[in-house]
Amino acid sequence: MNLSGKFISFEGIDGCGKSTQAKILSEELISCGHKILLTREPGGSDGAEEIRNLLLTGNTDRWSAETEILLFTAARRDHLERTILPALENGLAVICDRFSDSTRVYQGVTRGDLRDLVDQLDSAVIPRQPDITILIDLDPTISLARAIERSNNEARFENFGVEMQIKLRKGFLTLANEFPDRFMVIDGNRTEAEVAENISKRLHEIG
Ligand code: TMP
Repeated sequence: MNLSGKFISFEGIDGCGKSTQAKILSEELISCGHKILLTREPGGSDGAEEIRNLLLTGNTDRWSAETEILLFTAARRDHLERTILPALENGLAVICDRFSDSTRVYQGVTRGDLRDLVDQLDSAVIPRQPDITILIDLDPTISLARAIERSNNEARFENFGVEMQIKLRKGFLTLANEFPDRFMVIDGNRTEAEVAENISKRLHEIG
């Protein structure tokens, strides 16, 4: 499998297990000799980590959906410029925990009809999209319980409640249908090891 210069994102609702799976996959690939950068959004560069703090802490009504889209996009641009593009240019494979699809779903679909705004901003300032997007799909009642259990002060989105998580899951599955060439939907309702094995198998299948 030649992963040099490939951009892989992980997506899914809060508590679906994607961060754990992103870590397991990067460790597996590193042990096979691949050069990997594991990163996350919002964040992944100094400036974007500062914006992360603004976005994920505080009251649920701290920002409107429109303001959130601008902040997430600003963080993404900095992350792309300073971290992702240089790594891809140096031949690394980049594994990113969330990317534009999260904004399409969290801000674009579930908090108003703002998907067009997300896409317009993306096409203006985000010149690179993932080659492969791994969506970990899980029942929101299971994932939200997990998310709340490990919760820290970054719980702004988890605090929107289970109804929001149900909408988010539907939004991600709709997006997977819209972009079937890059999306890989993985059933997250299995053990960590089984989910990891399935991801690895599916990646090998696409070569
Ligand atoms: P995390 O829990 O995967 O670190 O993500 C932090 C939260 O930020 C999560 O609840 C999803 C939310 N989020 C958005 O609402 N829009 C975005 O564009 C991104 C990247 C994350």
